[in-house]
Amino acid sequence: MNIHHFLQLALAVLSLSQVYSTCTPSQVILTPGKPAASTMWVSWVTVENCTSVVELVEASANDAATHDDLAVVRVAGSAGKKYSTTYEAYGFYESDFIHHVRLDNLQSESIYTYRAGGQLFDAASSAVDADCTYSAYKTFRTPLAPGSRSPMRFAIVGDLGQTEDSLSTVQEVRNTTLLDYSAIGRGIEPTLMMLVGDLSYADGFGPRWDSWGELMSPVLSELPLVAFSGNHEVEEDSVTGETFMHFRKRFPMPESAPEQTAPAGTLSWSDYDLDTTYDYGSSYFSFDTGMVHSICLNAYTHTEASSLQYQWLENDLAAIDREATPWVLVFVHGPWYNSNQIHQSEVATTRMKAAMEPLLHQYRVATVWAGHVHAYERTHPVYMEQRNNESGTVYVTIGDGGNREGLYDYWESSAEWIAVQNGQHYGRGDLLVVNETHARWQWWPNGYTEAEDEAWIVNPHTAVSEGSYPTSYGALIGAAVATVLILAAAAAAIKWLRSKQGTTGPTDKAELLGEKASSLHGLEMEQRQSPGQRQGKIPPSNTNRDAALAQQETAGIMTAGAEDDEETIWTHP
Ligand SMILES: [Fe+2]
Repeated sequence: MNIHHFLQLALAVLSLSQVYSTCTPSQVILTPGKPAASTMWVSWVTVENCTSVVELVEASANDAATHDDLAVVRVAGSAGKKYSTTYEAYGFYESDFIHHVRLDNLQSESIYTYRAGGQLFDAASSAVDADCTYSAYKTFRTPLAPGSRSPMRFAIVGDLGQTEDSLSTVQEVRNTTLLDYSAIGRGIEPTLMMLVGDLSYADGFGPRWDSWGELMSPVLSELPLVAFSGNHEVEEDSVTGETFMHFRKRFPMPESAPEQTAPAGTLSWSDYDLDTTYDYGSSYFSFDTGMVHSICLNAYTHTEASSLQYQWLENDLAAIDREATPWVLVFVHGPWYNSNQIHQSEVATTRMKAAMEPLLHQYRVATVWAGHVHAYERTHPVYMEQRNNESGTVYVTIGDGGNREGLYDYWESSAEWIAVQNGQHYGRGDLLVVNETHARWQWWPNGYTEAEDEAWIVNPHTAVSEGSYPTSYGALIGAAVATVLILAAAAAAIKWLRSKQGTTGPTDKAELLGEKASSLHGLEMEQRQSPGQRQGKIPPSNTNRDAALAQQETAGIMTAGAEDDEETIWTHP
């Protein structure tokens, strides 16, 4: 080999080492910062100690290929950091380098292209260097700004794990849902994926957090994740007594204050009576997007009235600008209303419910989503175990994300607040907040082309604040009866008109779906019109919640799954 060949070989090796640099990011995941509509965390992992850089391109169209033509902003973060844990069953684990870079001052409702990267860390050099190794280009959309009246969509999953079913769930969130949106609601993509606790099911085996990050990254590097702790995130360190370590180090959230933790006290897992301390940080937090104030809570730290979490929640609820965000939605791991035979009467959940349910009711929280129970359940509006259409909260358990522990299809059936129970499918949820008063909820088993359960959720705050409640029970019944009579008259008129036109409406599923699709197209167009133009269009902008619920139940919407709904959901008079 002459000197020329040697140099060529050396250059080839050098080139190869740059392409496959140990600074190549893996497990790239997005999570929102605070404010959530204009701040985004980019997190990733490298094998070696590398700088942390994100190249950001604002794109004006949904076309990542345009990034070369646009200005690029480089954002540097601090270098990646390792952490370590010890668990009795698995021994010592040291993570690779975990990187977090925060992107500030983003435009809401905008599409960005980015790539994460870095170079081997050298304290003498600038952290921002053109000679970095990067991930592939990724694209994300920022959420709606608080106060926006445009419809907004959340993808909601729970108890995900890392099985083939877990992968199906997130792939369908990404692919099937978006395909569905392209058919029935173009432009209303989910901008956040809510995960109601129990992420990786690592259970103290650190490498499972890395494999979960790898599995989820193709979706979560483009659809930001909002997650908080379930019981599987507690993972008490057998040496230090620290808890939630993997979750805390890997997932920055829209924190209201720096985290406060303490070594765990007694953890009684038989009845979920846990003495853990994890406050602020990514433990519990809130954020505003569009018409929604979202609150994520931690059932596995202190929740009683004297706790920091309760006091934070009380202050957070009192400070909400209901003009900007008339909807308040809550997310927590352990379900407060659960008719499954599994996970009944757990101390952590019952203690939290006893302390916080009156507070959520005081502020007219519309819906509480939970997981933990590996099944799907939806309640009627309920407060203190009693159905309450006027001001109750709808509770949804969506713990069917696909983890290795399987499904729980064992139900009790006596409670009057039970609306839908189903423990037969892995799946995901989809919430479309349509306007100040109505949101559309759907539950989609994986592989289904139609939602298995869907319902209008009526905002209890809007119904009350607009002052249109009848003041007496008699007036309430009167309003409901009047609504039913009007509906019956309208249905009879439509039937008569159709008979005169020689048609009886859609007769098969394709026609019915077509009707649904055209209605949602109408909805999308409707939202771009002025409020005056929107009057009389779907969904009903009904300020009387009880009458609206009576109307829905008359139409079969709130009481059953999709099969019963199909002919009635999109055909409001
Ligand atoms: Fe759980």
